[in-house]
Amino acid sequence: MDFFKRHFFVALSAVLGLIVIAYVGARGNLQLLFGVVVPYMAALIFVEGVIYRVVQWARSPVPFRVPTTGGQNRTLPWIERDLGEKLDNPADFKHLVGRMALEVLAFRSLFRNLRTELVKDPDNPEGARLIHWSYRWLWLGAIAFHYAFLVVILRHLRFFMEPVPYPITLLTDVDGFFQFFVPAVYLSGIVLVVAVAYLLFRRITNPSLRYISLAADYFPLLLILAIGTTGILMRYFFKTDVIAVKELAMGLVTLHPKIPATAISPLFYIHLFLVSVLFAYFPFSKLMHAPGVFMSPTRNLTCNNRWVRHVNPWNYPVKYHSYAEYEDKFREPMIDVGIPVEKEQ
Ligand code: HEM
Repeated sequence: MDFFKRHFFVALSAVLGLIVIAYVGARGNLQLLFGVVVPYMAALIFVEGVIYRVVQWARSPVPFRVPTTGGQNRTLPWIERDLGEKLDNPADFKHLVGRMALEVLAFRSLFRNLRTELVKDPDNPEGARLIHWSYRWLWLGAIAFHYAFLVVILRHLRFFMEPVPYPITLLTDVDGFFQFFVPAVYLSGIVLVVAVAYLLFRRITNPSLRYISLAADYFPLLLILAIGTTGILMRYFFKTDVIAVKELAMGLVTLHPKIPATAISPLFYIHLFLVSVLFAYFPFSKLMHAPGVFMSPTRNLTCNNRWVRHVNPWNYPVKYHSYAEYEDKFREPMIDVGIPVEKEQ
């Protein structure tokens, strides 16, 4: 089996295996395990794991600024900078907040010219020209996926809150605006599944991306795809008793867990189990980029290297060995082998 097939197969079988486990559990009357114990364990692992990793990151010293920036740094007063350069290369806190906001809310770094390619040179049929450009589709897929995910999660809060706060009801109404069908189709759920499918498709069909992709890259995509698909199946095709789901969810958040008297379909338990696995897996995976972006020294520090001297705090004062000391130590052997010295004695 080649590299791609092996990694993809591992991830796919893991997700299919999880689906089978939840199905067998729901059919085998293990509702308490899959409806209460597993979700609580997943929440615990998620919270503890994320806190642990964030604290580990926060404890690593960052003595220097990392000026991996685009655009002109602040320098002599007559060298002007436009707003883009000030945001790309922030010299003060205000612009730093701007850079973080652009990164977190608009995925600024994905919109850069990340891609280099050799193309035919129109001026020279024999030669090639190196061009730099961006992965606009990747950016679009990523932004669509993340915002859809956020909206879906916010909408799900209706299961966990009573009364449902007005902003969540409003968001649900706006998201379900296209009432072509009954029940109303939530756009965000569809966008979520389409965007994840595109990101997966791109990873598989682009040879250079496939070459560097591991099971750990396919697994979260397949898992989220399965969560979205089971959700859509539940809402539009195989109806689930949402009143019972709300009873279960309210029991979980109020710490009075109970399995509702009316049975909920195995499809729901599959959905919930996959979500639990996603949360438990989160702290150990690449998904930690979500809290990690806030802690990235290439993003969250002002670029003031030109006017602030950053001194490495843990090995200063540096013990150095001057040339004079060196020569004092080795003068005789240096003279013996004819190496010129500054002082003869
Ligand atoms: C990462 C978290 C989750 C994601 C990404 C997710 C995703 C989805 C999606 C895409 C749908 C299709 C309908 C829609 O767009 O809302 C859906 C439906 C559903 N989800 Fe989730 N879900 C998550 C967590 C949960 C949890 C924790 C529960 C347990 C209460 C749950 C219960 C349901 C139910 C009952 C439906 C059917 C809703 C209906 O019939 O209106 N989901 N989910």
